[in-house]
Amino acid sequence: MKLTIIGAGPGDPDLITVKGLRLLQEADVVLYADSLVSEELINKSDPEAEIIKTAGMHLEEMVELMVDRVTKGKKVVRVHTGDPAVYGAIMEQISILNKQDITVEIIPGVSSVFASAAALGAELTIPDLTQTVILTRAEGRTPVPDKEKLKDLAQHNCTVALFLSATLTKKIVKEFLDAGWSKETPVGVVYKATWPDEKIVRSTLETLDEDMRKNGIRKQAMILAGWALDPHIHDKDFRSKLYDKEFTHGFRKGVKS
Ligand SMILES: C[S@@+](CC[C@H](N)C(=O)[O-])C[C@H]1O[C@@H](n2cnc3c(N)ncnc32)[C@H](O)[C@@H]1O
Repeated sequence: MKLTIIGAGPGDPDLITVKGLRLLQEADVVLYADSLVSEELINKSDPEAEIIKTAGMHLEEMVELMVDRVTKGKKVVRVHTGDPAVYGAIMEQISILNKQDITVEIIPGVSSVFASAAALGAELTIPDLTQTVILTRAEGRTPVPDKEKLKDLAQHNCTVALFLSATLTKKIVKEFLDAGWSKETPVGVVYKATWPDEKIVRSTLETLDEDMRKNGIRKQAMILAGWALDPHIHDKDFRSKLYDKEFTHGFRKGVKS
């Protein structure tokens, strides 16, 4: 017996993968978190399919429904926002399903971190500036392991993507500044990336908290911090080796100038 978890992408219904859409359309039962996944996408499923909204359910309630429908021989899909692998809370579902002899296939999706980078027109890995992106969250009601405190992660001076942290900007700014980041460090915030009411806010550590307040952003926002987010990055001469004419690689021989 099998169930499929599908990454819905960040919001725009066209950003689901071709495979994800096909499996959604073939499903007899579709479960989705109605607070996060677009209704327009769910409307692409079979009109005969049973649609189950899960935002108001707890884990056991939701999994019980999944097990019931799968054991009745239905094709069941669970649609998750963005990519299910990041803050998707899928492992707790999978472990219960596996105990019931149900295997789970996961179809990846476009994570909001990449949709937000696209909205900002940003590359998160700029040659000679940073080659690393940390995906994390600020510590709020959900604790973060001791070795992953933002202040410590910030020591890497790379691009940092913060999920689930829109109401914690005071704390975020303090941790970055304590880690030695300058007040001028660029921060890009994208509220509801790819949704019709998407909002892009370009800020710095100095003004981030105030900019969030001024724009009324308290949820569904991606915060991207680091110099890769510099709005003037195009004027600076960062070049990758990949397209350097003197650099030889498997597909091209470099030429000496
Ligand atoms: C429960 S997590 C799910 C993340 C999701 N799995 C992903 O890959 O994007 C929810 C958080 O993801 C971010 N998020 C999800 N969708 C977003 C969007 N369309 N625009 C900006 N941030 C988004 C926000 O930080 C939000 O608080």
